[in-house]
Amino acid sequence: MAKATPADLTIVPRDLRFGRGTQMRRWWLNDDPFATAFYNALSVTFPKGEGFFVDSVRNFREGTPPRLHGEIQAFIKQEVIHTREHVAFNRHVTDQGYDVTLLDQRIDAALALTKGRPPIASLAATMALEHFTAMLAHQLIANPRHLAGADEQAAALWRWHSSEEIEHKGVAYDTWLHATRDWPRRRRWTVKSLVMLGTTLKFFAGRYTGMLELLRQDGITGARAHRGILWYALGRPGMARKILGAWIAFFLPGFHPWNHDDRNLIALAESDYAAAIQPRAALAA
Ligand SMILES: [Fe+2]
Ligand SMILES: [Fe+2]
Repeated sequence: MAKATPADLTIVPRDLRFGRGTQMRRWWLNDDPFATAFYNALSVTFPKGEGFFVDSVRNFREGTPPRLHGEIQAFIKQEVIHTREHVAFNRHVTDQGYDVTLLDQRIDAALALTKGRPPIASLAATMALEHFTAMLAHQLIANPRHLAGADEQAAALWRWHSSEEIEHKGVAYDTWLHATRDWPRRRRWTVKSLVMLGTTLKFFAGRYTGMLELLRQDGITGARAHRGILWYALGRPGMARKILGAWIAFFLPGFHPWNHDDRNLIALAESDYAAAIQPRAALAA
């Protein structure tokens, strides 16, 4: 039996800023070009990607029950602040000499494909990608190895973002459940599963090519680049390998993102990044 979003969950946007007035080293994550390339490539997708999530969910806000309506509002606020912070983070990336034009063009091309498609298709893609971000966020907080040796501000940004992704992981899913409430179960499952398969392929292909491009700019090409990416994803720290179980769970009957209650990780992340938060007064100075 599927569980639902916990009744006592409140989604609270934490309006924080990271890495202002600081410099980030080129290989900011443990001096590892592969690890750095993964997070850089991912971050480059966020401003436009999260804008797409926001629009896709907002399209279905009308007519939702009051609680979900409020959660959608909070989800939108969180994603908008994430975007602001990743724009700042991406500036650090380009300040280190990376040219992200090609990565940006690929995002534009991917988003152009969604234009003219029915809004429910965009909501389904968002629902699948939000499960993706929740899986990554869970790993990132639960396993300290992912951010070991990272620039302090960058690590804080990723932990903060991850904690909010966990907190709002049910919103796109609940919106999807509401929007498709009249669909027969079988159709719902088929669409959801096909969208997840397509989204997964695109996600991995997109990050893979993004990493290859950034690594090329580091002078790492050919077999060395491919080997390094595959080892990073499947070996150590093995993000792709570690999310496999949560990925499979998505296809099982009765799936709901909150079947797995990992709220403890929100508090853990908050205590991990607490020291790195820049007080507002200092920012204004
Ligand atoms: Fe986000
Ligand atoms: Fe999100």
